[in-house]
Amino acid sequence: MILVTGGAGFIGSNFILDWLSQSNESVINLDKLTYAGNLQNLVTIADDKRHIFVKGDIGDSGQVARLMTEYQPRAIINFAAESHVDRSILGPEAFIQTNIVGTFRLLETAHAYWKTLNQADKHDFRFLHVSTDEVYGSLTEREPAFTEIHRYQPSSPYSASKASSDHLVNAYHRTFGLPTLITNCSNNYGPYQFPEKLIPLMITNALADKPLPIYGDGKQVRDWLYVSDHCSALRRVLEAGKTGETYNIGGWNEKPNIEIVHTVCALLKEMTGGPANGDYRDLITYVKDRPGHDTRYAIDARKIEHELDWKPRETFETGICKTVQWYLDNQDWVASVQTGAYRDWIESNYIQQRQ
Ligand code: NAD
Ligand code: DAU
Repeated sequence: MILVTGGAGFIGSNFILDWLSQSNESVINLDKLTYAGNLQNLVTIADDKRHIFVKGDIGDSGQVARLMTEYQPRAIINFAAESHVDRSILGPEAFIQTNIVGTFRLLETAHAYWKTLNQADKHDFRFLHVSTDEVYGSLTEREPAFTEIHRYQPSSPYSASKASSDHLVNAYHRTFGLPTLITNCSNNYGPYQFPEKLIPLMITNALADKPLPIYGDGKQVRDWLYVSDHCSALRRVLEAGKTGETYNIGGWNEKPNIEIVHTVCALLKEMTGGPANGDYRDLITYVKDRPGHDTRYAIDARKIEHELDWKPRETFETGICKTVQWYLDNQDWVASVQTGAYRDWIESNYIQQRQ
């Protein structure tokens, strides 16, 4: 049995679906169901007894301790987080609470549980913390990609909170011997990504004939990885990663934002034949830049490739086709996650902030 936190979010739900398609080991899924958590992501395993969903907060030590005592997980994979940079700029408090205080409490609870295990189970236990390349800050055009020993220099409240949680995880390894692992991954895309992030926002806005908002000049570079490749890397790190170590995860796929948006527009045109008059690119609208916007992220993935023999399966070309097709095929899912709270977010981020 493994305990997954944040398993109703984008990457967590993909991870659980992948896990149960390849393993018979059960999963307890602890998720607070914030705006970003949707049980509809897991509807295909609704009757699968190997998936136990529990609504709760990683910061609720009593509830988490009870779950661990009852289910005795051999590993915790911590996806739970507030994950959107723009939201962290408009309201950082939730990021501090979940990403820092929540991770701290989860570490405390895991440590207390781990101490009760027998020697063999203690040795085999793993706490895998899912983190981000954003902790390393921004690269210039010519700087080499982030390695695992790159300095931490986060820019946003989101990345600062993730950096903080990484330090806490390392401290629990170094000070208490908790068998931890950290992964720092680049930008993910794929099915079930909440339509506030670049790729799903562009797809859903284009289909709704709404503006495609490009921050600043659109030349910022992100390094894209298809979500199932992130999931396979996490399984590999859990299986063979050395405790106390960090593994960067990425697919060597650097692209400027504007190129991503052009690709999405071209694919939509190809797949839908629309829009009736003109081109989806006509919807591109340059808007006020994100404050503190990082210029470039790039992951040096040689450590995980060489030490753990991991490689991504998708290219950007195959991954983006699957993604656009998924959003076309799942417009009911999109409509169902675009609640009143989501509409309030669009109002505060795009209408009030970016004029
Ligand atoms: P997401 O926002 O889609 O999902 C986060 C999930 O965590 C949601 O289901 C939410 O309900 C849950 N959650 C939030 N606060 C919680 C709490 N206090 N207790 C329990 N559950 C809580 O995020 P995502 O994009 O799936 O990212 C998952 C993890 O991967 C995050 O830690 C993020 O920092 C990291 N990451 C994301 C990316 C990316 O490109 N999306 C890249 C690298 C790393
Ligand atoms: O690098 C990993 C990180 O990737 C994760 O840790 C975060 O959880 C995840 O949200 C993502 O962060 P980004 O800020 O890079 O992703 P986002 O999709 O918000 O933005 C991608 C780029 O597109 C960024 O340069 C900002 C730009 N952008 C974004 C939005 C939402 C726009 O130009 N317009 C937009 O409307």
